[in-house]
Amino acid sequence: MGLLDGKVAVITGAGGGIGRCHALLFAREGAKVVVNDLGGSRDGSGKSEKMADAVVSEIRAQGGQAAGHYQSVATSEGARSLVKTAIDAFGRCDILVNNAGILRDKTLIKMSEEEWDLVIAVHLRGSFLCGQAFAQHVKDRAEQGDLGGRIVNTSSYAGLMGNFGQSNYAAAKAGIYGLTKVWALELAKLGVTVNAIAPMAKTRMTDDIAQVPDDMKPEQISPMVLFLCSEQAKDVNGKIFGIHGQQLLEYKMIMTQGVTKKGPEHWTPSEIAQSLAAIGADASAPAPAAGGPAPITPEQIIDKAFTRLPEVFLPEKAAGWKAVLHFEIAGASPWTVVIALWKCTTKKGLDGTPTCVVKTNAQTYSDIVLGKERPEKAFMAGKITATNLGDMMRMGGAFDMKKAKDLADAEARAAAPAASAPAAQAAPAPAKEATPAEIIAKAFEKLPEIFMADKAKGWAPTLHFEIKNADDWTVKIADGKCTVAKGKQGTATCVVKTDAQTYADIVAGKERAEKAFMGGKITATNLGDMMKFGTAFDMKKGREPSSTSRARAARTGRSRSRTGSARP
Ligand code: NAI
Repeated sequence: MGLLDGKVAVITGAGGGIGRCHALLFAREGAKVVVNDLGGSRDGSGKSEKMADAVVSEIRAQGGQAAGHYQSVATSEGARSLVKTAIDAFGRCDILVNNAGILRDKTLIKMSEEEWDLVIAVHLRGSFLCGQAFAQHVKDRAEQGDLGGRIVNTSSYAGLMGNFGQSNYAAAKAGIYGLTKVWALELAKLGVTVNAIAPMAKTRMTDDIAQVPDDMKPEQISPMVLFLCSEQAKDVNGKIFGIHGQQLLEYKMIMTQGVTKKGPEHWTPSEIAQSLAAIGADASAPAPAAGGPAPITPEQIIDKAFTRLPEVFLPEKAAGWKAVLHFEIAGASPWTVVIALWKCTTKKGLDGTPTCVVKTNAQTYSDIVLGKERPEKAFMAGKITATNLGDMMRMGGAFDMKKAKDLADAEARAAAPAASAPAAQAAPAPAKEATPAEIIAKAFEKLPEIFMADKAKGWAPTLHFEIKNADDWTVKIADGKCTVAKGKQGTATCVVKTDAQTYADIVAGKERAEKAFMGGKITATNLGDMMKFGTAFDMKKGREPSSTSRARAARTGRSRSRTGSARP
């Protein structure tokens, strides 16, 4: 039994690289595969049927079923005929993997309009057109009662995080992120899930990029795509997964809690400048324990790392190397590292004539010191630059980086209490954060208070809420009154199912109910009841602290908001 038995998959750009690996794996798992490839070169010039045909032959040789398609995904004719090929050859289409791509890298000022247009056309327009043709087919099927499908798009680190010299490619890949998010909402009602991957693998596209190691194989990318297209991922929608060799990760766009100014006056630029850190504070980052230590700062980590650098120097790896390296680090002090006569010395400040100037910022460098970021990756992403690559490469080999990380970890642990003492004394400890289950219980208890009887005339439902990782609740409306009770009471006119985090996020206004609904995170057996539920309560009032909690906050002087916490 294969994971894709009976399914028909269309994979674009499957004549080589990552797409070919998807096609071979999908066929081994029982899918009938349409192998699309224009068969041109890495920069999108030329065309040939050979690449797609070769993969079709490989699939047939391993006992699978496949058909070739050779048109460009960047034209509507190409996209429509691609889906038609699947229908003509195999009767339907269940899966679309948008993978085709080209590269034409240039820095902003040097990039021509043609280079911009072509890269956007293949990646972004191609994904849009193929997605549209596929969605139309699924809609036609759905009208006959045959719902369901999978789309996996291909984004990239460059588009999600930025990369030097890739305006066209990054813009296209960021656009594909947007397509993924929008389609995940729009196509949920057809039973289609839409996710994206951001791969990293050695292919012809990355052949000349030293920072992508040879042991990151395109074959390592395909199992994630297979998973997303299988039944096992039926509840995974709108997500972006990174695959770097054996490492799997998820990219997440977060909205911070932000800061709300009270009163009618608009924000002024100087107020914004003062509040910038609070505006950007990540509410999901773990807050320090009440009154507990604040973490050591990046600047402190960097100072310690440079001070102790001579201890981890490996003289035998630096034979004949003479260098003066200047480190200019935004947000931290500059440092000089001198290598001469089998010795390494370091000094705060910039000293002597450099053979190499390294520029970076405090967060990046401290992440590298702590092993949270790989230097090559930071380099590739333009977060570090150096005027002398030879010195930089030797620097990477001439120090025992593992020992350096262990020293830095130990320093960070030892320094934390001392560094935090004044901050801990100065600021009040943050209030304990309520759990999702507690937030939900409070919200249900408050419902009768915010019920708007005039909006619920003639409506007499009994709603059961089954909430994973929180209590079940019953909400009953009768005779213009709302009552709530823990547990499932009476016979339900509507059963609502969700999980504690989703419901707590809706209550807190962090997630829109309709979006959670469309994303499949909430289901309800009676849509009419759900719609009325949305309008019969004053949800805004529901989010305001109750009069008792306001009084408590005033007494203790503590804010319930995390933005008022003692984080540095
Ligand atoms: P690749 O160059 O081996 O594969 C791309 C394939 O797309 C080629 O076979 C090419 O002929 C085909 N193609 C190009 N234009 C086409 C068009 N207009 N219509 C149909 N087919 C077309 O490169 P690779 O690495 O396998 O890339 C696959 C996808 O993964 C691309 O979207 C790429 O941007 C993405 N990606 C790859 C990374 C890597 O590390 N290899 C990193 C991030 C993203």
